[in-house]
Amino acid sequence: MALFITFEGGDGCGKSTQANELVERLRKQKKWKVIPIEEPGGTLLGKMLREWLRGRERSLTRLPEEGTQFALLETMNNHSIPDILLHAAAPRAELLAFTIARSQLVEDVIIPNLVNNNVVVCTRYTDSTTAYQGYGRGLDLSLVKIANEIATKGIKPNLTILLDLAPDEALARRWGAKANIDDHFEEQVVDKLDFHQRVRQGYLELAEQEPERWLVIDATLSQDVISDKIWQRVSKLLPR
Ligand code: TMP
Repeated sequence: MALFITFEGGDGCGKSTQANELVERLRKQKKWKVIPIEEPGGTLLGKMLREWLRGRERSLTRLPEEGTQFALLETMNNHSIPDILLHAAAPRAELLAFTIARSQLVEDVIIPNLVNNNVVVCTRYTDSTTAYQGYGRGLDLSLVKIANEIATKGIKPNLTILLDLAPDEALARRWGAKANIDDHFEEQVVDKLDFHQRVRQGYLELAEQEPERWLVIDATLSQDVISDKIWQRVSKLLPR
């Protein structure tokens, strides 16, 4: 019995915790081989991309001056591909980078495991690209759709769980008490908040378009309540 379940939601909504919990519950049944994966990641290419994203976050405050990109090319031998991508943060470059990593993941991990009737639990998949690069960065949604089709060969999840959380709540989780947030807000953070609001809106629209595939859960509920809701739905997909 092949089953493909994905977890989606904004940064800091608790996807990884809930994905781990589901994997544990499924494994306890001892009936299926359960394969947990995280995007970007899961293949060497995906791991490189994750490093790139981390590096880019860190480097936001020290972007190179114009022209440095070319200097970088001259010393290319000393740099890994993510170092170079670090300076190519254009939305289309981002879209293609996630598409490359996902193509490899689908080919190497997702398809073989579904063919072997395993349960694949993936944190982030194509809906992340639609929400972040499409709704968030404003890329044409039809372009994003083509990229997603190229990467997945049409392989879609049976169930997608959206942990829905307002971006200011997510920031509050990261920074502590909600009341303190305003003190920390600088222009960049407000920009980020707008971006994450568009991402959230994107997710909610996607879920509305395909209600049979999505389970939307309020991520402010307690972890136990959330994992029970997820289990209730997943149980219905498992054979008796
Ligand atoms: P995460 O560890 O929170 O999942 O970090 C991955 C980051 O990459 C997160 O900010 C979302 C972003 N992302 C995209 O922008 N597009 C994508 O297709 C994927 C998979 C992730």
